[in-house]
Amino acid sequence: MKLSVIGAGYVGLTTAACLAQIGHDVFCSESDLEKLGKLQNGELPIFEPCLDKVVASARKAGRLRFGSTEDAIAWGNAIFICVGTPPLPNGDADLSAIEAVARMIAKRASGYRLVIEKSTVPVQTGTQLRRHLSVHNTNGLRYDVASNPEFLREGTSVEDFLHPDRIVVGVDSTRAEELLREIYRPIIDQRFACPVHEECGGWKEPKFLVTDTGSAELIKHASNSFLAMKISFINMVANLCETVGADVTKVAEGMGLDPRIGAAFLNPGIGFGGFCFPKDVQAFIRIAEKSGCDFSLLKEVEKINQARIELFVEKVRRELWVVRGKKIAIWGLAFKPNTDDVRFAPSIALVKALLAEGAAVNAYDPQAMTKARSIIPEIQYCADAYEAAIGSDAILVVTEWDEFRALDWKRVLSIVEQPLIIDGRNALQPEEISHYGFRYVSVGRADILPRRLTESVPHSPTSKKETNTQEVPA
Ligand code: UGA
Repeated sequence: MKLSVIGAGYVGLTTAACLAQIGHDVFCSESDLEKLGKLQNGELPIFEPCLDKVVASARKAGRLRFGSTEDAIAWGNAIFICVGTPPLPNGDADLSAIEAVARMIAKRASGYRLVIEKSTVPVQTGTQLRRHLSVHNTNGLRYDVASNPEFLREGTSVEDFLHPDRIVVGVDSTRAEELLREIYRPIIDQRFACPVHEECGGWKEPKFLVTDTGSAELIKHASNSFLAMKISFINMVANLCETVGADVTKVAEGMGLDPRIGAAFLNPGIGFGGFCFPKDVQAFIRIAEKSGCDFSLLKEVEKINQARIELFVEKVRRELWVVRGKKIAIWGLAFKPNTDDVRFAPSIALVKALLAEGAAVNAYDPQAMTKARSIIPEIQYCADAYEAAIGSDAILVVTEWDEFRALDWKRVLSIVEQPLIIDGRNALQPEEISHYGFRYVSVGRADILPRRLTESVPHSPTSKKETNTQEVPA
């Protein structure tokens, strides 16, 4: 089918590329001309595993092209709206980009179009879309409006698109439902050339759930808010564990074994970030408020999350005694691993708080430093985790990138000023870290002192470690 995707952000670009991958003829538009130029030259403006491969092969097969919104509107029988819905100062979602696209479709398109909202929007946006398409219709446009929320996670978005648990479509006509079924048929049947897995098989066919438009819109906001609630819940349990001396990892494991609860999203840490959870929780609170419903539960979720940074900084203060003048290494800036996205990342608020206390910050992230630099230019960006650790009084693990788990700990020990690791993601193994002579502080677990070690550190002549009388094993 000829399909159009408006907006080449994380959602739009993945959607366009994957729709082309499963056999459709896709036109993707982008209004940011610099970004559009990159895409037309075969460059990706974001880091997303596997996406480069999918975009390149779709372009080579002639099934994916990039251009203007006007050309996209003229191209497809179905138009996916994937433009941004950033938060307004009052927490509402800013729908001006969606409104502008609707107006353009109404004025420029003729004949039939299925207009699909894929961006995360408040309930009843579909109703407003229908109204706008009809008010500005000047060319004899015939249309249906559908809601098809995305459940893509950054870092695994290609896999999530191609192997979803569910495809939700909110429609008000059989024609819209049938078209969406046809678009997604290869995914529903799990029959397509999979770019992610070499031997791809055994995936469960996803549930194709058909609802009214409002329910589909609510499913998205309710899902993200529920997941955010799980995170805030376990973060409070972590606080409690720290007070009573229990281990939150064990508590989460025990809870997660109950299939009604499930193990996912019970990892405590410095809080949820990114461009989805913080804004979606806020928007959901506002949607409820406007409907006369006080969703106070979600207000607590938000409050607990906002307190995570201060609690973490408090740990740093407790460990360092005086933060002013201390050298702090930040490992990880992205809001989670396998992305270069730093929007609403806990790292940003954390770094700002440390700078405000007079610390010197050296940071390293495998992918997110270019984006972080534009928000916090005043810190030192380093070539790798080791460089960031040189002379540090504390290493803070802020994003749980795999590479931080596989470092040469003897080397790290030899270059730090103080052997102290404060792990905001419980990413490291306490026993291993303490074994190498570090004091290890994490979330919701007992602090671990450096182990009594048995062999001397061979290459640390210049470091002034607290534990420099101790020895480490080979
Ligand atoms: C989230 C949802 O998971 C997707 O289903 C949804 O489609 C997407 O938002 C969206 O609305 O577009 P994403 O923002 O990519 O996806 O990231 P998540 O993997 O959900 O993580 C969100 C935040 O929660 C991260 O900061 C992560 O570190 C944090 N988190 C996650 C925890 O602190 N603990 C956990 O157990 C899980």
